[in-house]
Amino acid sequence: MSTATAPVASPAPVAALPPGPRLPRLVQTLGFIFAPVRFMEAARRRYGDIVTFGTAFDPEFVMVFEPNLVRAVFQGSGDQLRAGEANAVLEPIVGRRSVLLLDGSEHLRQRRLILPAFHGSSLAGYQRVMRSAADATIDAWPVGEPFALLESMQWLTLDVIVTTVFGVEGDERREELKRRVRAALEPVSRGRGSVALMLLRGRLGAGGAIARFEQRRRELDQLIYEEIARRRVAVDVGEREDVFSMLLRARDEEGHSLSDGELRDELITLLVAGHETTATGLAWTFDLLLHNPRVLARLRDELSREDGDDAYLDAVVKEALRLRPVVPGIGRVVRDAPFQLGEYVIPEGVEINPSIAVMHRRADSYPQPDAFRPERFLEHDAPDTYTWIPFGGGTRRCLGASFALLEMRTVIRRVLERAQLRPVSARPDRMLRRGITQVPRRGVRVVLGRPPKTG
Ligand code: HEM
Repeated sequence: MSTATAPVASPAPVAALPPGPRLPRLVQTLGFIFAPVRFMEAARRRYGDIVTFGTAFDPEFVMVFEPNLVRAVFQGSGDQLRAGEANAVLEPIVGRRSVLLLDGSEHLRQRRLILPAFHGSSLAGYQRVMRSAADATIDAWPVGEPFALLESMQWLTLDVIVTTVFGVEGDERREELKRRVRAALEPVSRGRGSVALMLLRGRLGAGGAIARFEQRRRELDQLIYEEIARRRVAVDVGEREDVFSMLLRARDEEGHSLSDGELRDELITLLVAGHETTATGLAWTFDLLLHNPRVLARLRDELSREDGDDAYLDAVVKEALRLRPVVPGIGRVVRDAPFQLGEYVIPEGVEINPSIAVMHRRADSYPQPDAFRPERFLEHDAPDTYTWIPFGGGTRRCLGASFALLEMRTVIRRVLERAQLRPVSARPDRMLRRGITQVPRRGVRVVLGRPPKTG
């Protein structure tokens, strides 16, 4: 009898969706609305690192909670795993030609055109803008009266993005642009407005908040198109360093430039994606710092040292984005052919969602996940590209990640150098889902004890 053994075959992929809760869709919807992290963590404990859910918004989608599976999703082809399609909910504001909404080769073309504006050499010039916007904001804070840091940070980050993208400082057009951006976002960034937007999945109909939003978006568009027309004939567009001018000069491999419509959508994308997210990240970081005196004291100490660097500050920002991810999850819709993920084969049409919120709370990656402990980012086994994912990943990773991290470090440093804030509440703020982001429910209310230091 022959002793030769046949090669052991690896387990065949299962041509089915992963298991998941059998609860009615309505119950699952309520779970996602009222206690998303608890609901997802309970499902993960029961079904494992890849789970199928169904809600009123989407009858079947697959959530992913494990670094190797996340890597497989991030490394999948952009033609097969479509982030643009998953981002369709943003179309009413950013437009269908936005880099956020495109897929495949069209997406890569737009992304390549925008990328240089966010390279290291461009970023260095933006830091001065970030610092002076922080100073102006701090100078305007009331002394001894409670105010919401989130709102203050929204104006600050809007100021920064308008200046760096449009390159105009302190004039009336810039102020009008800021006003119109906030006005257009206001109806959709309040609780009910965002739910309406989600329900309609990009197909706007009649209705109070929606009609108001459409009117304000038209007013914003009008200003942007006027600005595009003005800039196209400006004599100095060749020398200007702002993102807008760089986009006007940009050419793809075939020598084509961006059309007015494409420019409009990209400018709005940068204005919207580039300010609310960073403002929310900043508000959360201050909330965590003000409720964790040990970390705040160490950070102040590190920042005051002559020989110090930004390592601890950087770790603070990263830990805040871990514990309070601004965007809790991202999506990719499977197209063209079924996608093999681990031992499962995900059919076409199904959306795969790496959960940033759950990934950031895995106890094997982050011992004591509830603790705010920046030191974990300074240790030899610091979290990596597939365990720390506040900016998503792969060819869709956030284009503004370095910009946002630089802005957060610059603003935090300046606030700690100049101001003594104290929290109004003894407890940290609770999370509130607003559209695709998670914001502090009460906006992080604080009091400035005495006038800020100058210099
Ligand atoms: C703390 C601040 C920010 C957070 C947490 C954040 C988060 C994200 C996330 C999660 C994505 C989706 C990634 C994916 O699907 O894999 C994304 C995409 C994007 N973000 Fe950000 N973002 C921030 C700041 C910014 C800033 C400052 C800008 C621009 C100045 C920006 C521009 C973009 C753009 C253009 C995309 C689309 C990239 C693509 O589809 O190729 N973001 N961001």
